[in-house]
Amino acid sequence: MRSLSSLSNLSSHDFHSILDFSFYFKQKINKNGYLPQAEQVLQHQKLISLFFENSTRTLLSFKNAIELLGGQVDQFNLDSSSLKKGESFEDTISTFKALRYKGVIIRTGDQSLVREMAEMDILPFINAGSSCHAHPSQALLDLMSLQENNCGKNICIIGDIKHSRVAKSLFRLLPVFGFKIHLYSPNKWLDKDCQDFTIIQNKNELKEMDVLYCLRIQKERQEKDNMDSNWYFENYGITQKDLLPHQWIMHPGPINRMLDIHPNILELPNCLINNQVENGIFARMGILQWIYYEKNEFYSQSSQSAYC
Ligand code: CP
Repeated sequence: MRSLSSLSNLSSHDFHSILDFSFYFKQKINKNGYLPQAEQVLQHQKLISLFFENSTRTLLSFKNAIELLGGQVDQFNLDSSSLKKGESFEDTISTFKALRYKGVIIRTGDQSLVREMAEMDILPFINAGSSCHAHPSQALLDLMSLQENNCGKNICIIGDIKHSRVAKSLFRLLPVFGFKIHLYSPNKWLDKDCQDFTIIQNKNELKEMDVLYCLRIQKERQEKDNMDSNWYFENYGITQKDLLPHQWIMHPGPINRMLDIHPNILELPNCLINNQVENGIFARMGILQWIYYEKNEFYSQSSQSAYC
């Protein structure tokens, strides 16, 4: 059974398969608006999204991806669920299986739940963001945007790296595709995972980059911090004066305007933020295809022939 708990145990071949599927779906859906039935690997299948943390982009793009692949998804309501009556996480997942769900999309601030799902190994699951640890589908959609816009290979990740699950997944994925990662952050937000990458000390050095990848400050994962917002924006926030015309801007969203980025940036043609959101649908279709195509119990010859 295949799942996507993080990118660390995937091979370069796996990454290329997911990307190939993702670009294939984007091209097909941009042309037709839908996927022919013979290629809908999730037809008559139901998945469930189990989100312990808030989301707009990830939750909705997985829903769109599942539906475009012919499936359906239920959103688990934590407040009205039996978890509130003391049911264990393990029993909840077993209940999903008994109810014939074919997979779980999970977002959680508790990394141990992702490990527990992997150990149970009774349903395919996709990690849709776990604590400060991993956000594999975000990194894959980011790679799609970098590739389709032919961005250069020097990318600087800016801001709260220590608490960013997006940064941790980008650390694993981008070097495989030849990107050189640089980091620009207050020292307190550089952790042991940063040691393999070049640290930028001065904002002026950002001019040497091809791509500026801004992060949101993850206030929900930090001890109370007295950091001055004006100081942060002055030193680490990106404004038009920090940018050269050829440089690309990315951000996983949601954005804190006037903290990590100036709103004028969003209007620039080289701002890829909406392109990233759009690619979220196709990258997640690619991931679902990678999980369910070939490897699963409802694999069919008709869907196989569509990709030969
Ligand atoms: N980038 C991202 O994970 O956004 P959401 O929290 O809106 O899903």
